[in-house]
Amino acid sequence: MKITVVGAGAVGATCADNIARRQLCDELVLLDIKEGVAEGKAMDLMQTAQLEGFDTRIIGSTNDYAKTAGSTVAVITSGIPRKPGMTREELIGINAGIVKDVTQNLLKYSPDVIIVVISNPMDTMTYLALKSSGLPKNRIIGMGGVLDSARFRYYLSQAIKCSPNDLQATVIGGHGDTTMIPLTRLATYCGTPVAGYLDEATLKKVAADTMVGGATLTGLLGTSAWYAPGSAGATLVESIVRDQKKMMPCCVYLEGEYGLNDICIGVPVIIGKSGWESVVDYKLNEEEKAAMQKSADAVRNMNGVLSSL
Ligand code: 2OP
Repeated sequence: MKITVVGAGAVGATCADNIARRQLCDELVLLDIKEGVAEGKAMDLMQTAQLEGFDTRIIGSTNDYAKTAGSTVAVITSGIPRKPGMTREELIGINAGIVKDVTQNLLKYSPDVIIVVISNPMDTMTYLALKSSGLPKNRIIGMGGVLDSARFRYYLSQAIKCSPNDLQATVIGGHGDTTMIPLTRLATYCGTPVAGYLDEATLKKVAADTMVGGATLTGLLGTSAWYAPGSAGATLVESIVRDQKKMMPCCVYLEGEYGLNDICIGVPVIIGKSGWESVVDYKLNEEEKAAMQKSADAVRNMNGVLSSL
């Protein structure tokens, strides 16, 4: 099995690293437009093969999509990352053209590929990849919610002083500082509601910190984060290639689910060998439904910008 990661920047290379360490495929192609970067990172990663004990062959390519031929899954991380003070949405002008080109190039050589979108603004880039490719909706998946939910668990674990592994917590909605919806009411610590461990004010702070989790890291790092985004991408790929049927919040095309139509936005889905296989209905309360509508309105506004580019 072959997996392609497009974009050998920090997120793409970290995603490739995680895919190789988990041995999710025999061959992993890392592709970038910058001369030599993908080849260099592929070689560097291959030199960890014996140290980490994996057998995945990692091949670097400077924009030669022929090398990606026959990929089962492709992860798109290409585009510019945000700088401190920037929103993900400000990247749309440059990243839209890149994501459209990458999608078309991938499909030339891998007509059956399942595409995972990480590039920002992620909800709009997922919508663009779907609309510009005409692929069946199940084969285009935006990654944001897996990352945002991992950050939600991190902030909850810090507040409760527990292991993130003992928490179940989901973020739905858009992958933006103001569009994310951390579902605090449904979050549990070993099966018991987190509200039993934290007061209202702390729960509100955890949700607020989660929503700006990416921006906080961008402020600290001077560019956007890569370890958790890369790992979240690999976790999504793993559920596809191992047909794990894991439930993950992902950005997918909705046709009536959650009362929304003609939009890609984060909802809980089952991820398996066909891509996203079904949407899970969390039975939101009125407040959560209203937040979802508001988030969808913002994502729709951003999608509207595509037609002016
Ligand atoms: C983040 O939130 C890269 O959008 C990604 O860090």
